[in-house]
Amino acid sequence: MNQSSNRGLFITLEGIDGAGKTTQFDAVVRTLRGAGRHVTATREPGGTPLGERIRELLLHETMTTSTEVLLMFAARQEHVLRVIEPALLRGHDVVCDRFTDATLAYQGAGKGIPQDRLQTLARWVHPGLQPDFTLLIDVPVELAVQRLHAQQRETDRFERESAEFFARVRQHYLGMAAAEPERWRVIDGERNVDLVRDDVIFNIKKIIQHIE
Ligand code: TMP
Repeated sequence: MNQSSNRGLFITLEGIDGAGKTTQFDAVVRTLRGAGRHVTATREPGGTPLGERIRELLLHETMTTSTEVLLMFAARQEHVLRVIEPALLRGHDVVCDRFTDATLAYQGAGKGIPQDRLQTLARWVHPGLQPDFTLLIDVPVELAVQRLHAQQRETDRFERESAEFFARVRQHYLGMAAAEPERWRVIDGERNVDLVRDDVIFNIKKIIQHIE
């Protein structure tokens, strides 16, 4: 685990669009705070003023996939240096809605950028930093796509990708989780939202017990 005695935990949430990840994010933050821990809650792309401006470009402007990767990592560089590392060093837990695993799944498996190229950028932008724990909210692609179509607001560039794209992204997430089970917790997101939340809370409580 990537922490000294008073360093906070770095916890990330991942999942395909429509998995219900953002709803569960609040449960993670509340559970940690309820246990008396200090929490910095943040997201990617974004998390800093510059990062949030880059997020707008990423979600809405047409660009090549290489540009997309480089913008993701540019936003991430600001985020790691200005928010994530300082918070962890202050002893805060950092709960981040997506991190580099999303780039490996979306830009890598989804859009075909070689994994080794993404790993090189990851080593440049955040050497030695990786999440202590990652919750994967996993749902079948059909359910995710159904949820995306049901929502009222306009979809963004990523949400308009095909079911085949999301199937590749999901498989990559599941593959990463299987390869590194001590870091990943796979949550079945197909169930009713309250049951998913109970499972998320249960997992976070177990993580806290494990480290305290
Ligand atoms: P969000 O909807 O979870 O906030 O994420 C915004 C979109 O950005 C989502 O569709 C996934 C995508 N994304 C990537 O493609 N690569 C990344 O590295 C990150 C952080 C997000």
